[in-house]
Amino acid sequence: MKESHAAALAAIRWQGGIDGHLELIDQTRLPAEQVWLACRDVATVIEAIRSLRVRGAPAIGIAGGYGVVVAAGEAQRLGLAPASALAHVLAAAGELAAARPTAVNLRWAVERVIGRLAGTASAEGAGGRSAADLATVLLAEAVAIHDEDRLLCSAIGRHGAAILPLGDVLTHCNTGALATGGDGTALAVVTTAWAAGRRFRVYADETRPLFQGARLTAWEMVQRGIPVTVLVDSAAGHLLATGRIGCCIVGADRIAANGDTANKIGTYGLAVLAAAHEVPFFVAAPSSTFDLKLADGAGIPIEHRPAAEVTSPWGQMVAPPGAEAFNPAFDVTPARLIRGIITEHGVISPVTTADVARVLGSG
Ligand code: MRU
Repeated sequence: MKESHAAALAAIRWQGGIDGHLELIDQTRLPAEQVWLACRDVATVIEAIRSLRVRGAPAIGIAGGYGVVVAAGEAQRLGLAPASALAHVLAAAGELAAARPTAVNLRWAVERVIGRLAGTASAEGAGGRSAADLATVLLAEAVAIHDEDRLLCSAIGRHGAAILPLGDVLTHCNTGALATGGDGTALAVVTTAWAAGRRFRVYADETRPLFQGARLTAWEMVQRGIPVTVLVDSAAGHLLATGRIGCCIVGADRIAANGDTANKIGTYGLAVLAAAHEVPFFVAAPSSTFDLKLADGAGIPIEHRPAAEVTSPWGQMVAPPGAEAFNPAFDVTPARLIRGIITEHGVISPVTTADVARVLGSG
């Protein structure tokens, strides 16, 4: 399909004005049903982020930004005086930023929204504003982050489509409209190339344990009419050995200054397999996913999630009681395994500290 329907793929929206609320497609219910979740209080936003009702690095950043506005709405409803309203918003911002640890976009977006209160991240000097005034300023910044992300996705799509190798595409996790404010990162490359007339098949790793590839990437590809095949994660090596995969392309949750990239668990293994088969491995991510304070990937915090996601997915027991589970949600792919990082500013290649700085404009 169908550009018109593609444009309708969106997972986050703000309803109403400064006293409005956040709505999210509850991604835990896809692909079976498309249900919007109304978030009228901060606790609901935090629960949605922790439970992956909204997920994907840019998307949780956007949701976190709107979550700060929701906090200002709470302060209005509670009738808090200016100083208390500010304290309420700052406390909520701290909780929102900590809801998931690996994707740097979440902290980045929350700090950016809060930073608007006084032009500094500490929001000093905003104490005299009413809750309604706070909400006005915060909403403008949250909307700006959301709008900008759409443009970043388009730019990533254009830069990536220009270098996409011939052949089919193998991807991991979900990096599309559900994971961002626009058409995605890695999946924007795919959809932009497809819209330009390129023809290929997308192979989507199912992405255990939460199946973002099978449930979400396959759903998005079907919505867009792009041929998609789902495979179990452990079939990737065999698929690469067939020679039909032109490249692997994935997203990112945090990228260090040297290009080391944290992304969904299994990405590192896929990169090793791609290197073994001499298949180029690309990462696509906006500049908001870079954490230039970290020299390399060793300092990236890795989220570990509940054992039940592995031992009893969707309540179905697949391991005996008493078995423990190792369930890191992310891993780090070393820069040396990455052919290029596609950003809104262009492609970082070779992936080195110097080229990261050059393309991001800080070097
Ligand atoms: O745990 P998730 O589903 O939030 O993990 C998402 C990923 O790892 C994505 O690949 C990444 O956030 C990039 S989304 C454009």
